[in-house]
Amino acid sequence: MKVAIVGATGAVGREMISDLENSNINHIDIKLFASPRSAGEVLTFRGKSHEVKPFSLEAMRGLDACLMSAGGSFSRQNAKAIADLGVTVIDNSSAWRMVDGVPLVVPEVNPEALRGLPKGVIIANPNCSTIQMVVALKPLMDKFGVEQVQVATYQSVSGTGQKGIKELATQVESIFKFQDPKAEVYAQPIAYNVLPGIDVLDGSGHCFEEEKMVRETRKIFGKPNLPVMATTVRVPVYHCHSEAVSVQLSKPVSRREAIEAMTGFKGLTVHTEDAHAAFPTPRGIAGDQGVHVARVRTPIDAERSDWLQMWVVADNLKKGAATNAVQILEAISYH
Ligand SMILES: NC(=O)c1ccc[n+]([C@@H]2O[C@H](COP(=O)([O-])OP(=O)(O)OC[C@H]3O[C@@H](n4cnc5c(N)ncnc54)[C@H](OP(=O)(O)O)[C@@H]3O)[C@@H](O)[C@H]2O)c1
Repeated sequence: MKVAIVGATGAVGREMISDLENSNINHIDIKLFASPRSAGEVLTFRGKSHEVKPFSLEAMRGLDACLMSAGGSFSRQNAKAIADLGVTVIDNSSAWRMVDGVPLVVPEVNPEALRGLPKGVIIANPNCSTIQMVVALKPLMDKFGVEQVQVATYQSVSGTGQKGIKELATQVESIFKFQDPKAEVYAQPIAYNVLPGIDVLDGSGHCFEEEKMVRETRKIFGKPNLPVMATTVRVPVYHCHSEAVSVQLSKPVSRREAIEAMTGFKGLTVHTEDAHAAFPTPRGIAGDQGVHVARVRTPIDAERSDWLQMWVVADNLKKGAATNAVQILEAISYH
């Protein structure tokens, strides 16, 4: 299988290389691309060195698939032209997610969206915060039905790519030297701080990250009117996004029934031990490919309820991006 990674030197691209190395696709002829800035850099894939090349449309000719994580404007400019060459594009940016006819896929949740696709189409990878939430919600949706979702996120700086990681590290260093942290990537310092909004503000009080969570969740579940309320927040954590999710189900359930429904769902690990030391945290699960759920509970004083609360954590660079893209590739692989 001939596969390109475009954006190979980025935070997501590097994880794509690692996930693809460990994928179930045995024979991969890999080609790595980035901008001219990092052309010439050498990266390793399955024990062999590969030079990163500057992207060109011509270099896509003859490939089977292109895993793309080079930002929204790059995707808007290039994805369609690559797909027109007969190359299936799996895009990580927000550029194509809400376009009619473009499948928006989490393989554990809506694999049917991949069925019967020809080669040479664009498939969109959802937003990182959306992916982990829909994986946790899917078994509840199947068993009990979902009426509405409320979520508050605690999102790491790697969600902003390499520059977000550098910003937090530089600011922490400044603070340790008793200097004022300089905010360059975010509007205010992220070190020792919490920023209540992610991505551009839309003028109505919401930010684009919240809009993504709402609209993408509806599209993935095929429920265009599902009420979803999101508050997205950046926290000074390097890897993994955490979410406090409250979900209203179509019927009352006990805590045990909810845990049973979620246990064993593909890609989801349900932590049932009520102990501070046992809860999954961003630090604890960084690098893991799955979604972790803990603290599943009904509201206080309600033995059974149509409302459930839970804590959901996943590595935004893994299941939130690279792992999901590689799983899509595995699902459609033409080998
Ligand atoms: N970070 C996450 O958690 C996450 C999760 C889901 C989706 N995404 C999406 O994935 C994409 C990449 O994010 P990231 O976090 O990996 O960002 P990043 O660390 O900034 O990496 C961006 C990558 O894109 C390359 N690139 C930029 N402009 C290019 C161009 N004109 N031609 C070819 N390559 C170009 C960069 O190459 P150089 O090294 O040459 O600059 C780099 O390899 C974004 O669309 C983002 O929204 C990210």
